[in-house]
Amino acid sequence: MLVLDGKVASASVKAILLQKTQALKAAGKRTPHLAAILVGNNGASETYVASKVKNCEETGFGSSLIRFDDNVAELDLLAKIHELNNDKTVDGILVQLPLPKHINDEKIIEAIHPDKDVDGFHPMNIGRMVQGLDTFIPATPFGVLLMLEYYKIETKGKHVVVIGRSNIVGRPMSILLSGNRPKGDATVTLCHRYTPKEELIKLTQLADILVVAVGIPEFVNAAMIKPGAVIIDVGITRVEDATAKKGFRIKGDINYEQAITKASAVTPVPGGVGLMTIAGLLMNTMKAYEGKFYHN
Ligand code: GUN
Repeated sequence: MLVLDGKVASASVKAILLQKTQALKAAGKRTPHLAAILVGNNGASETYVASKVKNCEETGFGSSLIRFDDNVAELDLLAKIHELNNDKTVDGILVQLPLPKHINDEKIIEAIHPDKDVDGFHPMNIGRMVQGLDTFIPATPFGVLLMLEYYKIETKGKHVVVIGRSNIVGRPMSILLSGNRPKGDATVTLCHRYTPKEELIKLTQLADILVVAVGIPEFVNAAMIKPGAVIIDVGITRVEDATAKKGFRIKGDINYEQAITKASAVTPVPGGVGLMTIAGLLMNTMKAYEGKFYHN
């Protein structure tokens, strides 16, 4: 059984990016810059954004963290995005989701210039991805592809089952893995909350590669896993635990202890896909930088 280690795989991506930023610095040029917007003080979002900023520093990227109160007006958020769109020293913009209920996510995502949309959420970039055109791939599916690449896991001709159809993970993942592209060419079945449980179990039992992104701790058990399958766990849920230092533990969507008895490879949580998401984001930010005609 192989543990698909996000620390190791993301380190190899970050090493390449660090080489690039060091070369840029040596040439007296500025390096890629990511602007992250965080609204409110959701604990998980705080952790993710802090980790994104820290990883920027580790790879020689510039970063700015822009914080807004929970009750920020949508117009103020839009104004900041416009300002960042026009800032030539900012290559990538991300707005951490989820946003407070009074803010329209779609409006915010569409306000980000597609050339700076390093999350790959803008409808134009999603459209380009669907058509197999060069674009920003959403960071988490991108991270999964980088993980599969690092561990040389074949996808061509395999049956992949994806559970979860979100715009951020499941849907783009299913499109990418079924596409005519590297780490594509798979037969993909996309399951979601309306897939009857008995049918879901039958389908997952056929999966050479199982990608789970439902946000329900330990949703997948041993009975759902085909012997020798590759298991990609995208879930990151905080589960209260009074015995833990922080008062919670991080749980994935897979019952890890059961999965390792049947699978050939599994991503751990934490330490798996989460770290690869950041690697994907950094890759996209470098891409945004390199796509420019000027580097001031
Ligand atoms: N919230 C959960 N995942 C993500 C992500 O990949 N990007 C952003 N911006 N917000 C998220």
